[in-house]
Amino acid sequence: MAIDMRAAWNRISPGYQAQHQISVDAAHYGPFMPSEAELRLLGHVAGRRILELGCGGGQCSVAFARQGALAAGIDLSDEQIAFARRLAEEQGAAVAFEQGDAAELDRFAAASFDIVFSAYALHYVLAIEQCLAGVSRVLVPGGLFVFSLDHPMREVFWDEEADENSLIAARSYWQRGAMEWQWSGGGPAMRSFHRTIGDWVDLLHAAGLQVQRILEPEPQLDRAERISWADSYDLEMVRLIPQMVIFVARNVNGRRATVATDYR
Ligand SMILES: C[S@@+](CC[C@H](N)C(=O)[O-])C[C@H]1O[C@@H](n2cnc3c(N)ncnc32)[C@H](O)[C@@H]1O
Repeated sequence: MAIDMRAAWNRISPGYQAQHQISVDAAHYGPFMPSEAELRLLGHVAGRRILELGCGGGQCSVAFARQGALAAGIDLSDEQIAFARRLAEEQGAAVAFEQGDAAELDRFAAASFDIVFSAYALHYVLAIEQCLAGVSRVLVPGGLFVFSLDHPMREVFWDEEADENSLIAARSYWQRGAMEWQWSGGGPAMRSFHRTIGDWVDLLHAAGLQVQRILEPEPQLDRAERISWADSYDLEMVRLIPQMVIFVARNVNGRRATVATDYR
């Protein structure tokens, strides 16, 4: 199937933004997840240079700018970027938003960001090694990389034949690679990439990004997004199976990250 993710997100964007009405009060990590105001993974962002990958409608970057950060965002979708630029203008927030692929960060100078952040986007990136090498290059030594993804266990319960979630495991956790599916409500064909938690740790390590924490927050079923995500999430599944994972990593800048080998 020929899948054009740029065109797909251009098509989805207007409905997505109208449906979810994402807040600019604090950066978020995805549906049912505690926000950055609750998790505090980034520390104080005032004066920090932050790059957001797959920034979508720009709400997280606008939230960072409102807190005094020097924020920039990149997204594959022209429509998402157009929305983000309008939002920043309405909010009086100075954010440099650019259309582009998160795997192609050459436009940004080396060591030009203190933090790279991404919410709920990197499972769409095919050239993930190239993306992570770019993250490592644009971060200052010791810089922070924090990102959330669809939890790979959630994907085990994705029934590709039926194109829907199921409470019966439908694919192997170890069946890596592309997953093709259709956006809900007759939307475009989409492609995301299944990688295990161990794969992510290895990919980060290979890029010189040392994992410090892996968070698997229990979904908060009473959050407002219960309503706007109702057609994409079965609440019983959300109660039973992890939906999102968040990684916190530090740039060790090309030096090999030290891995403890003493498991006693
Ligand atoms: C689920 S949305 C999340 C957007 C935003 N981070 C948020 O939380 O609202 C995923 C975003 O990833 C973007 N995206 C998909 N593939 C991408 C790629 N290769 N490079 C950059 N952005 C990408 C899409 O255009 C979309 O805006």
